[in-house]
Amino acid sequence: MSEIIATGSYLPARIVSNAELAQRVDTSDEWIVARTGIQQRHLAAEHETTSDLAVHAAKAALQAAQLSPEKIDLLIVATTTPEQIFPSTACIVQNKLGITNGAAAFDLQAVCSGFVYALSVADALMKNGTYRHALVIGAEIYSRIIDWNDRSTCVLFGDGAGAVVLTQSATPGILSSHLHADGAYRDILQVPGQVRSGGIWGSPFLQMEGNAVFKFAVKVMAEAALEALTANHLPVSAIDWLIPHQANVRIMEATAKKLGLPLEKLITTVAQHANTSAASIPLALDEAVRAQRIRSGQHVMLLGVGGGFTWGSVLLKW
Ligand code: ACO
Repeated sequence: MSEIIATGSYLPARIVSNAELAQRVDTSDEWIVARTGIQQRHLAAEHETTSDLAVHAAKAALQAAQLSPEKIDLLIVATTTPEQIFPSTACIVQNKLGITNGAAAFDLQAVCSGFVYALSVADALMKNGTYRHALVIGAEIYSRIIDWNDRSTCVLFGDGAGAVVLTQSATPGILSSHLHADGAYRDILQVPGQVRSGGIWGSPFLQMEGNAVFKFAVKVMAEAALEALTANHLPVSAIDWLIPHQANVRIMEATAKKLGLPLEKLITTVAQHANTSAASIPLALDEAVRAQRIRSGQHVMLLGVGGGFTWGSVLLKW
């Protein structure tokens, strides 16, 4: 079985407040806070790439695990904003970390559900006994696929990376994972552009039907949480911490309310980070671990939801 032994994260230095955005598009701090809970976001510098963010987060996690990079034999990067078309960002990260042992490395794309998907895949690969230490990273630079003149989307996103180190263990740290997708909803959240003949065909910017996304996210996140609890024969009250994908504080609170879970059990970082897609859950997890909110023996429910549409859960025993 596998368990998470350490976490790490990285946020670019530049912080952009709602007030700063209001100088660019017709919006206000009041509107953004009331509709989303977001107060600020971190944006990558011009020279920073997705692998740079991922490497910073990975190094922090490896340091917390007191593990040398050479011990990693499986490396997965969940990202929708890869460094380049190929090779994978994971291979670039592997090289930058100095891992030369032939560790398996690949990217996984499930948009904002990417980290939950990647953790689930890493757990399954470790359970078959082939791998001993895995590095699972969520890293995104959404600022490069956002239309900064579109007020309905540009206020929502930020850049960042989070990472966890998984190790084989005799007792399960990952109690269960459940993954889902429904491509019938592929149009409500997308970047439709295609790379063709040396250019991009279609828009290279994120497009979203906000209301449809909101309703869908609340519905499937609550369902995913109940599915995990049922599979583990646990009541809602067994959840010590709920870490949903950090898209919008209203989506998270509506999910908790639907489950009958007290809001004090909800971990939210969206106010400071905005929506960092596949990086949002590991960023929130790292913050809660480092603040010593999450303690040994507690149940931590991770809930992902994102474009595709994709969604799912990972239930952890810390
Ligand atoms: N500032 C000011 N006004 C705005 C802004 C803005 N940044 N953006 C939109 N508006 C306006 C709209 O134009 C509209 O004006 P109108 O009534 O004159 O047409 C008005 O505000 C209301 O717009 P709605 O879209 O109905 O506002 P809503 O209350 O639904 O909030 C929001 C919009 C915040 C996007 C909401 O739908 C939402 O949170 N949806 C979920 C989207 C999300 O979180 N996506 C992240 C990616 S998905 C994921 O990660 C799973």
